[in-house]
Amino acid sequence: MTPSANQRIDEESYTSWRQRSELAKMADLPPSLEQELVRLDREFWISSTKLKQIVQRFREELEEGLVKDGQSIPMNISWVHNLPSGREKGTILTLDLGGTNLRVCKVTLLGDHEGGKGKSTLEQEQYRLPQSLKTGSADNLWTFIAEKVAAFVQAKGLDRQYSLEKPMPLGFTFSYPATQHRIDHAILQTWTKGFDIHGVEGEDVAKHLREKLKERKLPVQLICVINDTVGAMIASAYNDPATIIGAIFGTGCNAAYLAHVSSIGKLDPDDERITAASTHNGTNKGKEMMAINCEYGAFDNAHRVLPRTPYDKRIDEESPRPGEQTFEKLSAGLYLGEIFRLVLVDLMDRGLVFQTQKEEGKEGLKNLYRPYTIDTSFLSQIEDDQSPSFSATRDLFAQTLALDPSDIDLEVARRIAEMIAVRGARLCACGIAAICGKEGIQSGNVAADGSVANKHPKFKRRWARALGEVFDWEGADGVKGPIRITSAEDGSGVGCAIIAAMELERREKVANKLP
Ligand code: GLC
Repeated sequence: MTPSANQRIDEESYTSWRQRSELAKMADLPPSLEQELVRLDREFWISSTKLKQIVQRFREELEEGLVKDGQSIPMNISWVHNLPSGREKGTILTLDLGGTNLRVCKVTLLGDHEGGKGKSTLEQEQYRLPQSLKTGSADNLWTFIAEKVAAFVQAKGLDRQYSLEKPMPLGFTFSYPATQHRIDHAILQTWTKGFDIHGVEGEDVAKHLREKLKERKLPVQLICVINDTVGAMIASAYNDPATIIGAIFGTGCNAAYLAHVSSIGKLDPDDERITAASTHNGTNKGKEMMAINCEYGAFDNAHRVLPRTPYDKRIDEESPRPGEQTFEKLSAGLYLGEIFRLVLVDLMDRGLVFQTQKEEGKEGLKNLYRPYTIDTSFLSQIEDDQSPSFSATRDLFAQTLALDPSDIDLEVARRIAEMIAVRGARLCACGIAAICGKEGIQSGNVAADGSVANKHPKFKRRWARALGEVFDWEGADGVKGPIRITSAEDGSGVGCAIIAAMELERREKVANKLP
């Protein structure tokens, strides 16, 4: 790096956290805490110069993943060859294995119905995943899913409309890294997002699901396995042709985009699966496309560029898969609340916060010592608190942790919540900037879904601003920039159904030898 770049980083890091903070001040802090916040800000703040360095390395890792298997970012082939036309039709059952729930939907795609493209209707049921399931056995997982499908099929009377001879098409949104040789096949590479179910890694999840559904004689046929990012891109493109990327900023952090097959070094352009698809969708040789599920939560697993704090390192070490998902562990919803908790515990242990609580022997301190007791919504609510004297934040501490913080404790907690969320949003912009930079995409909509994107009050603005800084857009605020963040349509329900409908149409054409 040039000396001037180094100097700029230093200058930026010396800008005081108070100047950068958007939160109104609620209490004066003693010098020891002021200093502590300066230290934390130095660790968490990502300057414009650093953002650009991260994006540069990010682009390299995306390239590496396209060329060869087994790289840090896997750049998984999805076998989705094009965006939808908006005319796709059909009734599809979809399954979405999320971090917290299993969602089963009956999606009806109306296509060009009454002149409006991309319309659909949906009926759904949500089932909470028992905590024990996430670290249990494969058999428990597939049995649980098959049970819920059976309950849904029966409740909606689908067993009367479909049969084993004429089954209902089923799409499965499986939002974990998977190697796909076909669209209805998916070998789990590794669990992410805290899942640790034995006997699934290295296995074809489609095969296991199919077997369990068959055992129960359910009148369904698995057509596709998709990632939530690919679903978000497809569902959004069904309505909005300006969609360039599908992204999830939620429990995990990831994105998908439509790549030129010619840019995917690990794929043979003469592969029969690609030529067959282009015959059917009318794409000329050399112009074929393929949706790539980046799985970029794994960015920088070699720890070359991301500035990790001691809190991040601890989260990684104590996670079920240390050394994996480095980028995700700094930026995604599953971890933001836990980083916040670890900082508070550190300050408390060093006698800097919650001292009255300690003296009073508050029960709540035990809660603070329990891993993953604070989720990202806690941080969102702190930053959303407009109430006089921040009573909503006080209530939050009381209800979630049984703690009664002093004004100073609260002031410190608010600042920390802000630093962590700002870092997360700025990092989230890097992945998107890397895809756009690499692909030469200069405008369009990033269809985003996930709890952080949807529920954190300042995420989208911070994300846009960071993107503007990376691309040196005029004016510091990227909100009006040419690449914008939009709210994705339901990718894991409707998006999954559209992909199943596209695949069924393709199969029908191939079977009937239609162009
Ligand atoms: C994790 C998963 C990825 C998913 C993302 C968002 O990164 O590995 O497949 O897209 O979370 O849910």
